[in-house]
This record gives sequence, structure tokens and C-alpha cells, in this order.
Amino acid sequence: MPTAVVTGASSGIGAEYARQLASIGYDIALVGRHESALESVADEVRAFGRRAEVMVADLTDGDDLEFVTDRVRGRDVSLLVNNAGSGTPGRFVRSAPQVEQDMLDLNVSALMRLCHAALPGMLQRNRGSIINVSSVAAYTPSDTGPGYAASKAYVATFTESLAVAVHGTPLRVLCVFPGYVRTAFHPRLGMDTSWIPSWAWLTPEQVVTESLQDLRRGRTRSVPTARYKVAMTLARITPRPLLRRILASAGKVTTRA
Ligand SMILES: NC(=O)c1ccc[n+]([C@@H]2O[C@H](COP(=O)([O-])OP(=O)(O)OC[C@H]3O[C@@H](n4cnc5c(N)ncnc54)[C@H](OP(=O)(O)O)[C@@H]3O)[C@@H](O)[C@H]2O)c1
Repeated sequence: MPTAVVTGASSGIGAEYARQLASIGYDIALVGRHESALESVADEVRAFGRRAEVMVADLTDGDDLEFVTDRVRGRDVSLLVNNAGSGTPGRFVRSAPQVEQDMLDLNVSALMRLCHAALPGMLQRNRGSIINVSSVAAYTPSDTGPGYAASKAYVATFTESLAVAVHGTPLRVLCVFPGYVRTAFHPRLGMDTSWIPSWAWLTPEQVVTESLQDLRRGRTRSVPTARYKVAMTLARITPRPLLRRILASAGKVTTRA
């Protein structure tokens, strides 16, 4: 049976990838730090009649990352979902350097290492896909999360470059750009999201359903929902000085950190 390794499978978007992939026939290796949360998603995977393997790992820890990269090299792994990610609370100048470093270790280094571990076997077997979760933040400079926005820009450029590298093979590589999604992401950071209008929020189901459709269609980029496709296009075509001015004034209204 094909196996998908899903990082950050204990909650939010990653848990939804685990459920939807199990529902279409994948066995799932679930990666995250919190065992009980992983076990409860694993039970949902098993309810679809699929095998679930719980891998408790902090991807910012060298030994734990090695444990997961070894698993990703497995012959049965036909899909890698690099979903685990974190942000930083408040403004960069007030953020602890170690928190910024941990975020880069997770959002950038672990994702790169897992792709590096997965690809040679996939190329050899002529079969396999990688989904990397970026964010619309990749295209929106931010005064509250410069490190986060830059880490997601890395994911976008890195993934698109991998797509170029595997062009002409049956391998598929997809970068996902979610907008605001109702998950544990913002509460974990203690972020005030009360100013975000309700229409701006997506569900994990919307993100995962649309991205899996885009993967099946052989696309390289997935921007779930029409409203975020429009927002991303505007962010990409707006002249950068104007975009920075707009985001700077929005930042003054939306954050008091
Ligand atoms: N929510 C949004 O608005 C939004 C928007 C754009 C992009 N995204 C991206 O979507 C992805 C998923 O986020 P989410 O919204 O689903 O948030 P979430 O509910 O907080 O999920 C984050 C997942 O990452 C795991 N994780 C965090 N740190 C980890 C570490 N050091 N090692 C291993 N796993 C770790 C968490 O599991 P444990 O706590 O068990 O480790 C959890 O399963 C992230 O890459 C995020 O940047 C989210």
C-alpha cells in the first residue's frame, strides 16, 4: 500500500491531510511532537482501514530529524507532505533569537532535509509526490513576522525549483499557499485575530481538498479558494513600494505588539 508521511499531523491542516489521504487509500506515517494528539488522528486513519504509524519527533532536533529522514527514505513512501510549521509571536525586534532560529529550523531546514531524503528513492522508483505547505505570507512582507514570511518564500522558491528539477519525470511537486486557516496556529502564538474578517478564514478541509485536486491535475502551485487566488495575484502584481506602504499601514491598525 502507498504510504504518505505527513509532518505536523497532530492538528490543523496536517491532521486533515492524514484523514483525506487515508480516505483515498494511503497508509499514513504521522509526525509531530505530541503523542496523544497524533494517536487520536491515527485512530481516525485506522477507522478508514488504513495503517497508521505514529512518529513522535521534534523536527528542530537533529536526532529526531534523522529518525524521520530515515523513514522518508523507505521504499513504500510515495507521498511526503511537509506541513509542520510555526510562526513567531509579536514583532521581530522583541522576539527571542532562539525562537526565530527554531522557526527557521522547522519551516526551512527540516523541510529541505526531508525533500532531500525523499527524492532520490522517488526518482529511482519513478514514482512519488511531495507537497510543501507555504503561505500567502510568502508574498506579503510583514512587520510582525519577517522571519516567517521569508521562511515561506523559501518554501515557495525551493518547491518551484524542485518542480523544475523533476520536470519530465512522473514525479509531482506541489507548493500550497493557504490564507488564514482556522487551526491552532494563531492561538499557539497568542495572536489577536479578532480584526480578521470572517470571510477571510478558510477551513483545513478547503485547503486540503483543493490542494489534493491540484496535485492530481499535475499543478505546481495551489492557492485554495478564488478569493485567495485574487489576493495572491494582487500581491504579486502590486508594485513593491506600494505593497509595503499598504502593509505598513495595515500593520499599524492590526497589531499593537
Ligand atoms: N493557519 C493558518 O492560517 C496558516 C496559513 C498559512 C500557512 N499555514 C501553514 O500551515 C502549516 C500547518 O499549520 P496549521 O495551521 O495546521 O497549524 P497547527 O494546527 O498549529 O499545526 C502545526 C503542526 O506542526 C507541528 N509542529 C509544530 N512544531 C513542530 C516541531 N518542532 N516538530 C514537529 N512538528 C511540529 C504541530 O504538531 P506538534 O505540536 O504535535 O508538534 C502541528 O501538528 C504550517 O506550515 C503553517 O505555517 C497556516
